[in-house]
Amino acid sequence: MPQGKQVQAMFSGIAGKYDLLNHLLSLGMDSHWWRRMARCSGAAPGQRFLDVAAGTGDSSLALARRGAEVVSTDFTLEMLKLGPDKFRAQGRDRLVWASVGADAQRLPFRDASFDGVTICYGIRNVEDRPRAYREFLRVLKPQGRLTILEFSRPSHRWLRFLYDTYSLRLLPRIGGWISGSPEAYSYLPASIRSFPDQPALAAELAAAGFGDPSWTNLTGGIVALHSARKPEAAPGAIMGA
Ligand SMILES: C[S@@+](CC[C@H](N)C(=O)[O-])C[C@H]1O[C@@H](n2cnc3c(N)ncnc32)[C@H](O)[C@@H]1O
Repeated sequence: MPQGKQVQAMFSGIAGKYDLLNHLLSLGMDSHWWRRMARCSGAAPGQRFLDVAAGTGDSSLALARRGAEVVSTDFTLEMLKLGPDKFRAQGRDRLVWASVGADAQRLPFRDASFDGVTICYGIRNVEDRPRAYREFLRVLKPQGRLTILEFSRPSHRWLRFLYDTYSLRLLPRIGGWISGSPEAYSYLPASIRSFPDQPALAAELAAAGFGDPSWTNLTGGIVALHSARKPEAAPGAIMGA
């Protein structure tokens, strides 16, 4: 597993090609998955959302389109700086949004300051997940919801076989060729395979102190949408750490 600095360097290197490759390698499913994430998150007018590891801003845009005020945060500034143009092109006057460079493990926000926290394809890259979960709990208001969109484990054997063939053989070649960074696109399938599957991630969230962890498989479980709530009296709320 690469360390934080290596992850930053990897995303800095592919930032300019990230959106194109996302779209291409997901066979156009990326927008659908973000829309489902935004709907599941409960984002709505009058709510304040933090999108962690927001990258080039598409996950944040999906939340802002539902009327929520969104703060995007990421520790790779080369990714984050591609967001503003996207928001501008969407008519920024209608969307309330800001971006802040930050590490998911040390969020520069006040306790209980967000109605929802989201992280899309980001938690897999975080070195110390329990530490990030503590931060998510801290910045969430009581009963606030954490939504995680992440690559996961397809539920059917035949789909797993097809997906393995695609992601282990084809995806690294196409990704490496277009981005000029073969390591980044070999890292992607490897990191997905070493990441907890759906039940294990739900258990991890429960162990971290979240309530009601649940998940929904998208596209047969290639991607999973995890949801959990900060309890009324969560550890972060008590300690205010
Ligand atoms: C695959 S991109 C996802 C971007 C965006 N959420 C999306 O859906 O397209 C993963 C992002 O996570 C960020 N990231 C990884 N580890 C991080 C950390 N510890 N703190 C903040 N951002 C992190 C990377 O910089 C990268 O921009």
